[in-house]
Amino acid sequence: DELIDDIRRDLDIGLIAPAVFSDPDLYQAELRRVFTRTWVFLGHESEIPNRGDFVQRNIGEDPFIVIRDDKGEIRVLLNACRHRGAHVCRVQAGNARMFVCPYHGWTYANSGKLSGVPVKNLGYAKLKLDEWGLYSAPNVTVYSGLIFANLNKDAISFEEYLGDFAWYLDINLHLSEGGMEVLGEPHRWLVDANWKQGAENFCGDSAHTQMTHRSALEIGVADLSSAGAPKPDAGVHVHDISGHAVSIRRRPGEKPFFSYPPEVKRHFRPGALNEQQFALAEESLLHNGTLFPNFSFLHIGLSEESGKEAAGFLTVRLWMPKGPRQTEIVSWILAPKEASEEYKRRAYRIGMSSFSPSGNFEQDDVSVWPGGARTGGSIFAAMNHMRYNYQMGLGDMSPLPPKEIWDGPGIADSSNAGEGGLRSFHKTWLKWMKGSGRNVADPSN
Ligand code: FES
Ligand code: FE
Repeated sequence: DELIDDIRRDLDIGLIAPAVFSDPDLYQAELRRVFTRTWVFLGHESEIPNRGDFVQRNIGEDPFIVIRDDKGEIRVLLNACRHRGAHVCRVQAGNARMFVCPYHGWTYANSGKLSGVPVKNLGYAKLKLDEWGLYSAPNVTVYSGLIFANLNKDAISFEEYLGDFAWYLDINLHLSEGGMEVLGEPHRWLVDANWKQGAENFCGDSAHTQMTHRSALEIGVADLSSAGAPKPDAGVHVHDISGHAVSIRRRPGEKPFFSYPPEVKRHFRPGALNEQQFALAEESLLHNGTLFPNFSFLHIGLSEESGKEAAGFLTVRLWMPKGPRQTEIVSWILAPKEASEEYKRRAYRIGMSSFSPSGNFEQDDVSVWPGGARTGGSIFAAMNHMRYNYQMGLGDMSPLPPKEIWDGPGIADSSNAGEGGLRSFHKTWLKWMKGSGRNVADPSN
C-alpha cells in the first residue's frame, strides 16, 4: 500500500514508475483487487450461439468456462473440479452437455451443477450434490452482444459501472441500424508486455501513430491527413468518463464515417443514437477507447493495400494478463450487419492485415510495448529512480484548457497532444488498487 501511495503521488505530476508494468507483487495485488471487483469482458455472444457452446477465457489469471447452458443462460464457471481442483474442461472452445472430470470422474452439468459422482452410494452416501457445483461468477451480463462478468457478488450493476462510457461505446455498436456482426472467430496470441500497456494505449495514445506506425502510413494503407502531428480539433481525447477514456480522430464539418463506403453508409441512421452521437460518428475517422480494466475497441477505416479506397471495420479486444510481463490478446473483427457479404469479406481482410497477430499496425505496437515492461527489471533504471513520462498536455504543459463545450460526457481536451486518457486509466487503476472496498466504478466521480 505504501508503494501504491507513492504511485499516486507520482501520477499527480504525470509520472509512473516502471514497476507498474512489471513488478510481480503489484501484479498479484491487481489480480486480487482489480480483476475480482471490476466488470471484465469475456467474449462475444456470437461465439456461443447454441446451448452447450462454450469458450475458455480468464478473469485475471483464473480460467473460466463461458458457456450457454441447457436453459440458454450464459454461465461463467471456474474451470476447477470441486473434488481436487483438476481442470474439468481441457479445450479452448466446443460444445458440451456436461463436463466429466478427467481425474476421478465427478460430472457437472453445463450449468455447473454437480450431477454425478462415481461410487456415490458406496463412498459418498451423504454428499449433497447441490453444494458441490463448479463455482460460478455471481454477475454476468450481455451488453449489445458483449459478455461481461463480475466476481464480486455485491458489485454495482454493469450499467452503472459502464456509466457515461456507454455514450461513446454505443456510437460504435449502434451506428448501423442492425448493429454490428462478428466476422469469423477471434484471434488469440501472446505478447511480451503488461496488459495495461495495450489498455492505456487504446485510451488515446495519439502521439505514437506517426512514429510507431510510420511505415504503415508511408505505404498508404491509412489516411495520412488524419495521422499527422496532433493538432486542435483534428483529434479529441476524452477522459474521466466514469473512470474510462476514449480518443477520436475527426474531420470537423466533413462526413468520413470511419471511411465506410456509400453502400454501407446508407444503413447509418440515428436510430439507437441521439443527434450528437450521430454527428460525432459522421465526423469520425477513427475512434478507440478502453473500458477499465481490459476491454478496448477501435473503429477505423484502412485499405488493404496502397492506392485502394479505405473501408471501415470495428475491432474489440481483451487484454488478458498472463503474468506481469505477458499478455494474451483476444481480438474480434466486426462490420455492420446490413453490409453485403462481399463487403464483410473485405472488412475482414483489412482487419486481418492491420489489427491481428499478422497485421501491420498490430506488429508495430507489440514490437515496442515489451521495452516498457522489461525496463521495469532494469537495475540501473531503478538506481536512477526512473519514472515514465505521462505529462503531455498536463496542466500548464498545454496552452489550451479543456473544451468548455463538448456534446458528450467526460472531460474533452482541446487537442490530441495530450495523455489525459492514459492518466485517467491509471487513476482508475489506482482507485481499485487502493482497495478502499468501495463498490463503485470510480469512487471520486
Ligand atoms: Fe475431479 Fe477428482 S479432481 S474428480
Ligand atoms: Fe498503435
